[in-house]
Amino acid sequence: MGKRGFFICVEGLDGCGKTTQAKLLVARLREKGYDAIYTAEPSRGKIGMFIKKYCLHGRKRVSSVVEALLFAADRFEHVENVVIPALNEGKLVVSDRYVYSSLAYQGAAGLDLKWVEKINEHAISPNLAVLIDVVPETVIQRLKPKKSVMENLETQRKVREVYMKFVEKGELVKIDGSNSKQEVADDILTVVLRFLEKAV
Ligand SMILES: Nc1ncnc2c1ncn2[C@@H]1O[C@H](COP(=O)(O)OP(=O)(O)O)[C@@H](O)[C@H]1O
Ligand SMILES: [Mg+2]
Repeated sequence: MGKRGFFICVEGLDGCGKTTQAKLLVARLREKGYDAIYTAEPSRGKIGMFIKKYCLHGRKRVSSVVEALLFAADRFEHVENVVIPALNEGKLVVSDRYVYSSLAYQGAAGLDLKWVEKINEHAISPNLAVLIDVVPETVIQRLKPKKSVMENLETQRKVREVYMKFVEKGELVKIDGSNSKQEVADDILTVVLRFLEKAV
């Protein structure tokens, strides 16, 4: 790993295991001696907090254009305030969701992917983007106790389709998320270590 750090993002449907796996990955990388940090989007900044309150858990669905703009604005701050400073310190940054979430969710909501890409052009590319893939039926089952507006079956199917386009393009590395937490963690670590070795 060079001085510039290494940026990994973990993507997938709500309930696929991103938070579980991003945290496990950071713990395992630390055990191996890497200086790894966990971060997430929406971020803990002001815009991120606003998104959590009004877009994800509000009573009324916000228009997808506004959502896309807010997520892009939050991402700009997240990258500037958290990701880049950590990378400059040579850290390994693991982000629980990143730009592919905007493409998948706002794309699934019918927005032009090119426009969503355009408003996210300031978001630096990750060194590695992992998709934890599960079928929508699985996440609906896992999330039964904590539903948010993003989580009906039809939406999840559309979101997964957009993610798959990026898998086919080779931008996202797909991991089977239907296995046990430990197995998924092993699979992700294998892929990450392979990429880290290449990056040295
Ligand atoms: N591989 C797995 N098998 C079974 N349950 C899982 C697995 N990974 C995560 N879970 C459970 O599914 C739920 C959602 O996991 P979480 O990591 O919060 O997903 P996300 O951050 O993608 O929404 C949690 O209750 C978690 O314990
Ligand atoms: Mg999560």
